[in-house]
Amino acid sequence: MDLKLSDWYDIARDTNWTPRYVTEEALFPPQFSDPHGIPVSEWEKFDEPYKVTYRDYVRTQREKDVGAYSVKSALSRVEFYKKADPGWKSLLQMHFGAVPFVEYGSVSAFARITRFGKGPGMRNMANFGTLDEIRHTQIQMFFAYEFLSVDRAFDWAHKAPNTDNWVIMSERHCFDDIEHTRDAVSAAIMTNFSFEQGFTNLQFIALSADAKRYGDYSFAAMLQTVQSDEARHSQIGEPLIQIMIDNGKKAEAQKLIDISFWRVWKQFSALSGIAFDYYTPLAQRESSLKEFVHEFVTTQFLRNVNALGLEKPWYWDEHFLPDVDTFHHAQQIGIYLYRETEWWDPVAGVSPPERDWLEQKYPGWNDTFGQVWDVITDNIRQGRLDRTKPRPLPMMCAMTGLELTGVPGKHWKVKDHTLDLDGRRYHFGSVVDKWIFEQEPARYKKYLGFIDRFVAGQMPPGPDGVFEYMNMAPEERGTCGTNYAWVEAFRLAS
Ligand SMILES: [Fe+2]
Ligand SMILES: [Fe+2]
Repeated sequence: MDLKLSDWYDIARDTNWTPRYVTEEALFPPQFSDPHGIPVSEWEKFDEPYKVTYRDYVRTQREKDVGAYSVKSALSRVEFYKKADPGWKSLLQMHFGAVPFVEYGSVSAFARITRFGKGPGMRNMANFGTLDEIRHTQIQMFFAYEFLSVDRAFDWAHKAPNTDNWVIMSERHCFDDIEHTRDAVSAAIMTNFSFEQGFTNLQFIALSADAKRYGDYSFAAMLQTVQSDEARHSQIGEPLIQIMIDNGKKAEAQKLIDISFWRVWKQFSALSGIAFDYYTPLAQRESSLKEFVHEFVTTQFLRNVNALGLEKPWYWDEHFLPDVDTFHHAQQIGIYLYRETEWWDPVAGVSPPERDWLEQKYPGWNDTFGQVWDVITDNIRQGRLDRTKPRPLPMMCAMTGLELTGVPGKHWKVKDHTLDLDGRRYHFGSVVDKWIFEQEPARYKKYLGFIDRFVAGQMPPGPDGVFEYMNMAPEERGTCGTNYAWVEAFRLAS
């Protein structure tokens, strides 16, 4: 007689036992497992919404891989890449340098939840998550390396995490904080709930839709196989939060969400935001970042938060929503200007029709960010390229590792939020970044950001010192993705 899954699943995965040779505390050290002291009997109530057996898991994953790897042959992918729009090239170059090492980091994060989680169901799901993240790393490395013969930027799929490039430092600071330096419960709430459930739909569903419209079917297929795993393992967060709430730790859970949601938002805004609104070729853009955020983050994430009986993060209305309209536009300017310091060749994405689109999606764009682009456009038209490569060092946020920015134009109100501690002045891009630091100064205070390291004399001397420090050979440094062709339309217009 065949047993149904429901007949044996709970018994098979209930692998908790009472330790006899070591204490429970030695088996599950609180600083790794659960600093809140919630009893094991409570963690045993963890009930995963997605139930899967190893046999079914392997079969499904195999089918996904076969599908994604066989969409197109390597040769035709290379041909596709060669002919691709410069904006799409920017997007692929940036994606494959920025994403695979975060996937690989997630392997470690899930493996730690598998070892130190106190609930058997939680460990079981995290175990599948570990396998998922190995696959995400492998498939993205494979797809990136297919382009290596035509573009050195794809070397960064593997090289990136081993450098102190400033973009990579910014990512590492965020993901080390939420994935690698906290106990299993906190890391799972921050990673599985805020990061994966909150944001990965943006990178994988929304971007996949754009990729399909652009005709990059293999990239779209790859993104879809990743997202179908996220949909399962991101669910680890909800039952965990429920157990914390049931055991009087609601405020602690809320704070973990508030911190991690903001941290991940800044990363997604700066990287995915410019991919959606500046890099994706205009004809294939499905929605703006703002529309995607309202579809995938505001609505869905808040629904999950409310369903658990938690509140939206305290900064939602006053800081998060305005940031959705502005932050990535400001970052795009900095990323284009400091292009030599990036492994990808960024496009400006502000030709006349693109500006019309930006103005339509973000009313007021022309009078604010557009004014800065007017100056950049003019300088390029006059052949003054040196003026589009700023010499002064930017101010960078001690939390995000990204440039301190504001909204240019009449309502210019960039504000440096400072904090003095132990003889050092810290600069923050927002009150939320500063608030995160204040929650646990010991966690963050010794870190030196990119500019701090420069000022401290940690980089090699000479004009190339900064690049040597970032491990960037001259041919790896970014240039304008269209080789300044985007200003031609302005020349014709005047
Ligand atoms: Fe992943
Ligand atoms: Fe994941």
